[in-house]
Formats: sequence, C-alpha cells, structure tokens
Amino acid sequence: MQRRTFINRFAGGFAAILGAPLFRYETLAKLRRLDDFIRRGNDANDERYWALVREQFPLARERAYLNTGGLGASPYVVIDAVVSRMNELEKISETGHSEQLWSSIKQKAAALLGCDAEEIAYTRNATEGINIVCNGLPLKRGDEVITTTHEHVGNAVPWLARQKRDGIVLKLFEPSTKSAQENLDRIERLISKRTRVISVPHATTTTGQVLPVKEIAAMAKARNSWLFVDGAQTAGMLIFNLHDIGCDAYATSGHKWLVGPKGTGLLYVRKDMLDIIQPIEVGAYSDKSHDLLTGELTFHPTAQRYEYGTVSTPLFVGLGAGIDFLMKIGMENVWNRDAALSTALLDGLKEIPNVEILSPLNQAERSAMITFKMKNIDYLKLQSFLTEKYKLRTRGVGEVGVNALRTSWHIYNSFEEVNRVLEGVREAAKL
Ligand SMILES: Cc1ncc(COP(=O)(O)O)c(C=O)c1O
Repeated sequence: MQRRTFINRFAGGFAAILGAPLFRYETLAKLRRLDDFIRRGNDANDERYWALVREQFPLARERAYLNTGGLGASPYVVIDAVVSRMNELEKISETGHSEQLWSSIKQKAAALLGCDAEEIAYTRNATEGINIVCNGLPLKRGDEVITTTHEHVGNAVPWLARQKRDGIVLKLFEPSTKSAQENLDRIERLISKRTRVISVPHATTTTGQVLPVKEIAAMAKARNSWLFVDGAQTAGMLIFNLHDIGCDAYATSGHKWLVGPKGTGLLYVRKDMLDIIQPIEVGAYSDKSHDLLTGELTFHPTAQRYEYGTVSTPLFVGLGAGIDFLMKIGMENVWNRDAALSTALLDGLKEIPNVEILSPLNQAERSAMITFKMKNIDYLKLQSFLTEKYKLRTRGVGEVGVNALRTSWHIYNSFEEVNRVLEGVREAAKL
C-alpha cells in the first residue's frame, strides 16, 4: 500500500514513539460519515446509523456472518492500524514495544472491562489466559475444581491436563436454563472442603447463557475458593465491571466481540491475586529486575509478569483501535443492538413449528448468541441447508450432545439477516 494513501488521525491514545496509526483516506471517509451522523444528534435506534456502522467493515455482504462467537470481523480502522504499524516497523526493523504504548492500550481495555490497567496482561487468545490461570494457581493433588459440562475446549483441556498431571479433581455441573438460582444451587451442592477453584464461563459457548458470576464470586469467596471466569464470549458484547463482579481472574479473546486482530487476547488478574497466580512461562518483560549472577528475580509489579518475549506490537495497536471503535459507538449502544437483533431472532423462532430453543428465554440470562435445533432435521443437515440456500454462516454446536446451531449477533448484523434466518428455518420446518 502506498504511504501517500494513508493519512494520520487520532493522535491521542496511540502516543507511542512511532506516533498515531495511519488510516487510509477511504477508511477516514467512512468514519467521517459515521461521525457526522453522530454529531447531528441522530440516535442509535435509527437503522441508518447501523448501516453506517456496517460500512466500516470489509466483511462480505453476500453471506450473513453469524459466527462472532467463533471469530469477530474487524473494521477497516483495525486493519489499517495493524498494516500501517507493521509497515512503519518493517522500515526500521524494531519491535515497536514501549511501556507507554503498552500501558496506553491497557488503559482502554481496563476502561472497557472495569478494572485497572495494571491488572491486564496481553495474551494471544483466551485460551492462553486460561492456561496462565489454571497452571499458575497453587493447587495440589486432591484439590477440587468446579466447572460446567458446557466448557469450550479452551477451558476444558487446560484443567483436564492439570488433573492428569497434578491429580486435581474436576467436579462438573450442567448449566440449567431454568434460573440463575438453580445454577447457584448446583454449584453449592458440589462445594466441599477440598474446593479450591470455581471455573465457569461468563457466557457459555454452547447456548450463550450468561451465568450469575457476581453471585458465584460471592459464593467462592465465602468458601475460601477462587473464581476464574472464562470471558471469551462477553468482552465487547455485554456491559459489566470486573471489580464489581469480584472474580479473581478473567480471560477473553481480542478477536471475537472486541473486533480486534486475530491472535490477541486479554487476561485480567486482580491485584491481590498477582502473587498467588504464579507466572510459569516467563522471560523478557515478565521481570522488574533479575540478576543471573546473584540469583535475584523480581517479577514485574503488574500483570505484565505473565507476558514474555517478543510479540506482535501491530496486533495490539489493532486491538486498541478495535476498543476505540467500540467506545465510539458506546458499549450501551453495542449491547442494545446485539440484544435487539438476538431477541428478534428468538421471538421469531418461537413462532416456528419444530424449533427447539436452547438459549435461555429469560433476557437477564441471555447473551447475543441464540442456539436452537429442529425436531424434524438433524442440526448438521440444517446447517448445510441454511448455508447453501440462504448463505448463512452459523456454528454447529456438537459439544456434549447439544447438537444444535448457534447464531451470534453483533454490530455488523442487521434485521434483514434476522429475517433471512427465520425464512430459512420456516422452510426447513417443512422439510
Ligand atoms: C467460552 C470460550 N472459551 C474459550 C474460547 C477460546 O477462545 P480463543 O480461541 O480466543 O482461545 C472460546 C472460543 O470460542 C469460547 O467460546
């Protein structure tokens, strides 16, 4: 890409040695249309606003993309931020890492997650954050960890590996969509004197059910246990505050609802847990000081202690641009939009014969992912039918025999796409 085609924007927030990321004229023109709309006082209930948001994404329009729970689409601002930073760095062959840059992006993430920048570590994905917590907690043979039967592989395999290696004991409960209280009761029944950790998803990968993590945190605290929250499905979608939830650690992906570059993640470790969750994989950046000759090692005072070695600076600059983009829209608008689309789908599905909805019907326990199956057609056949005839990208949920289809609804989706799914399902109901 020609350097001339980029122009500078948004100096604030990216005050790194290399200066602000460069955005292409086309990107800026699109952003300006959105900004003008916002400036004129038009509100986010106006479909024209969401059409302007949609045009910020290169995401192809022929296929309705309904798999943000798997991978989010990135807007042009994110792509430009990554490409321009990479172009600049390749001219000087430097990493581009600086304390100032690192902390300025963490401040954005902290504002979004409701914690302090010092409590955030960059990771490559949610799974890396989960591994840091799972392997860093001081657990011994016989210690019990409570989790659900609906874990994503990323929050199942690390704990299973620790069970195999260190003899910890996993105890499982099946999340109930009956009520939040029923889930608290199920956890309560599993707690014993040996319980050390409760590890649950904020929203399950299977049905998008939001678990009562604040109440679970209080329960864990009362029983002298730690709560780890797998937040892969909630950062950038739901509005929450980690300090208010009171969990001990939380991991998320940058590349789903946060619309960041693929290969980014965030790990939150509450300040008073930093000395408890041991940094296992360490190296450059993990330490405040070290001396090989005297044997001295002091870990970095912040969650940076969990980071090590060279990473891609452009990817994290891109993640910062993704968070800026969501903040421009406003998290309240983001969640209201995601909720409006997913609720419209749910309401439409309720009217179709042969449909069984697996996501909670109660709004308070629902995220923007709706999972359903049909009595008359196998879920994989239904998925192929919807892909081929209606050009819908859904996600099959084969985990623990759920055997259903999951649809994710984010800011680049539309009511037209909701109708397209409903039309397809109506036709499938007659097959
Ligand atoms: C609940 C949950 N945890 C963890 C992950 C893994 O995320 P990542 O690929 O960023 O490691 C996912 C991905 O879908 C998920 O849904």
